[in-house]
Amino acid sequence: MQLEQKNVLVGVSGGIAAYKTPDLVRKLKAQGANVRVVLTESATHFVSSLSLQAVSGEKVSTHLLDEDAEAGMGHIELARWADIFLIAPATANIMAKLAHGLADDLLTTLYLATPAPVLIAPAMNQQMWAAPATTANFELLLSRGVTTIGPAAGEQACGDMGYGRMAEPAEIVEALCAHCEMYLNEAPRETILKGKRILITAGPTREAIDPVRYISNHSSGKMGFALAEQAKNLGAEVILVAGPVSLETPVGVTRYDVISAQQMLDTVEQHVDQADIFIACAAVADYKVARENAQKLKKSGDELTIAFTQNPDILKTVASRSNPPFTLGFAAETENVEEYARIKLNKKRLNMIAANDVSIPGLGFNSDRNALMIITKNTTHRLAPETKDALALSLLKIMHEEYTHLQEVR
Ligand code: C5P
Repeated sequence: MQLEQKNVLVGVSGGIAAYKTPDLVRKLKAQGANVRVVLTESATHFVSSLSLQAVSGEKVSTHLLDEDAEAGMGHIELARWADIFLIAPATANIMAKLAHGLADDLLTTLYLATPAPVLIAPAMNQQMWAAPATTANFELLLSRGVTTIGPAAGEQACGDMGYGRMAEPAEIVEALCAHCEMYLNEAPRETILKGKRILITAGPTREAIDPVRYISNHSSGKMGFALAEQAKNLGAEVILVAGPVSLETPVGVTRYDVISAQQMLDTVEQHVDQADIFIACAAVADYKVARENAQKLKKSGDELTIAFTQNPDILKTVASRSNPPFTLGFAAETENVEEYARIKLNKKRLNMIAANDVSIPGLGFNSDRNALMIITKNTTHRLAPETKDALALSLLKIMHEEYTHLQEVR
């Protein structure tokens, strides 16, 4: 019951995905939320207010100038009542209206009138999602603090394939719970990781070419740092081994800075014996320069050839120990995400892998947001796009369940 006594205002706009909202409302209620639903005029063509009234147990409002509704809970009162305002589905049209401050119906008026945090679950045809106007509106909403859940990729109602599907109700509820726990709960967090020692790698590594040059990658370290912070908040003792990043150390986390993959491995090996869980979030350079040059390389000729040799695989080394900790790896893929991640899970003999599609603009590398597919031997779990902090919290909870399950069957 992670939404116990939370007032969730659900705004439904007119997209085909609106047919999923009775299920969404039911799932929100199951988490203990008080739910009130507002429909736009066009949403009423996709879902009946009667079914939403039945599942929410409250009168559903549609019109701004509804005498009955205003005599009960007027629109300003409703806007103040909400602890959180969830708009699902959020169509391209509603996003455009929200971005530009139009308030010509109840839903859009509530958006302007509510002090509550706003979460949207976009849903539309993939071409509409990719349209520059939609992108600009979406960016504007994000820059004003709106949080987005999804959209997901897949087959669409119109037969197209691509981004624009509304995240599934279960994913929306999970993201909402994480959001509430992160930003709204004054109550102390759950401390499910109390007594656990977690070792985390984060950021890129840098492999020297000569005294002034190196090769590296675009990893910002944000996901690993978010995991360290959330694991600490959940009660764990956390050691963070960080490559070169410019991020503050989360309070209470012990941090070791390293540069190269070899240094990262050495530091991990110094601490892994004491770790219950190892999370490899670092984007370790696969190769290092075969022969590092002691002096700065001189410019010569049109082409330069540098020989590289493989770096040690830190995660694989840890997972192949005789008594390994629980291992969680990451996989950044640009295609066949689930398939490639599963291969990696088996090949490196991991307990769990979190895969992300780094080909999606605005997600993953060097961004504040991400989406993950969490894979174990027998399960696949999808987390819709969210802030890395909220995502880290959801991932740690799923990891804890799997960790506990493995301890029990041992
Ligand atoms: O094989 P690939 O590099 O895609 O595997 C990614 C996972 O392995 C990540 O969890 C990463 O932190 C870890 N890794 C590692 N050492 C390497 C390469 C990857 O720990 N040299």
